[in-house]
Amino acid sequence: MSTIITVENLSRKFGSATAVDGISFEVEQGSIFGFLGPNGAGKTTTINILCTLLSPSSGTAIIDGHDCARESSEVRKKIGIVFQDNTLDKELTAYENLLFHSYLYCVPKGVRKQRIDEALHFVDLHERKDDQVKKFSGGMKRRLEVARSLIHQPKILFLDEPTLGLDPQSRTNLWEFISKLPEEQGVTIFMTTHYMEEAEICRKIAIIDKGKVIARGSPDELKKMVGGDVIYLKTSDNASSLRDIQSLLNLDAEEVGSEIFIPVIGNGDACIPKLISALGERVIAVRMQRPALNDVFLKLTGKDIRPESMSGNNEIKDTIRSYRRKFDK
Ligand SMILES: Nc1ncnc2c1ncn2[C@@H]1O[C@H](COP(=O)(O)OP(=O)(O)OP(=O)(O)O)[C@@H](O)[C@H]1O
Ligand SMILES: [Mg+2]
Repeated sequence: MSTIITVENLSRKFGSATAVDGISFEVEQGSIFGFLGPNGAGKTTTINILCTLLSPSSGTAIIDGHDCARESSEVRKKIGIVFQDNTLDKELTAYENLLFHSYLYCVPKGVRKQRIDEALHFVDLHERKDDQVKKFSGGMKRRLEVARSLIHQPKILFLDEPTLGLDPQSRTNLWEFISKLPEEQGVTIFMTTHYMEEAEICRKIAIIDKGKVIARGSPDELKKMVGGDVIYLKTSDNASSLRDIQSLLNLDAEEVGSEIFIPVIGNGDACIPKLISALGERVIAVRMQRPALNDVFLKLTGKDIRPESMSGNNEIKDTIRSYRRKFDK
């Protein structure tokens, strides 16, 4: 598998603040690569350097053999981008937006219409091609932006938070189109997201926090870093419970939102009775799961990648009652 993007020791400062801090990674041609991190981690700054919109303070980024800082026009021919913020002209129709893009990228006149038609079919918007974009839903606008980014047949497509703000159905729908791109159009995808579950689609992932890459690997490799199952506890007194979990049971534990997060080595089943025995009446609820990508971030940084997800979105699957029954036997 050949490498199409190579980033080495890349940094970018804004004044005295360092947005990107000496990051290195590679992206394989024809793969979907995920760049994950919380708000302000440095994802968009990195994309802007790779897309030649921003120069690095130090380090190098090479795309398909061309240096992003020194050979920007060569790099620009190879790439398409869907920006974090919507950049369609809402007064124009879907077709007109794509036509305008084809002029900007000097798509030859003889193939313009065909490329636009194909792209609109690809994202299932051909029937709406003559509607003004202001009449589109958020999901349709995102799909149209993906279609637009394909008109000049880029080798690499950058998607910066492509599903931000979309409802779950539109997110799933958009991923159906995006995931077909490597195979059907031979496009390499570089995507950022802070929806960890979306990154399962990636062949390789780099996790970035505060400008640094803190982990790299396939989704499975990253999850193995957690070690075993993960347990989430709700208790009536998280501070004292946390102390007891660490001192009495000698387990790693972090308070995350309203819960206590405990990554265990191996199988978590055996651990639950011990937790209940140590914490007694303080335990309100327990849930256990195989590690997800979000747990990798939690384990590495002690924080949730999406703090807003902790505010009540967490379904407590297994109630204390079933574990008490097991424990009382
Ligand atoms: N033009 C700029 N001038 C000054 N600081 C900037 C500029 N662009 C980004 N930053 C800072 O650099 C850091 C990284 O920002 P960046 O936009 O790359 O984060 P991000 O990972 O894309 O975040 P988000 O998930 O919110 O999109 C932030 O602290 C941000 O405030
Ligand atoms: Mg961003």
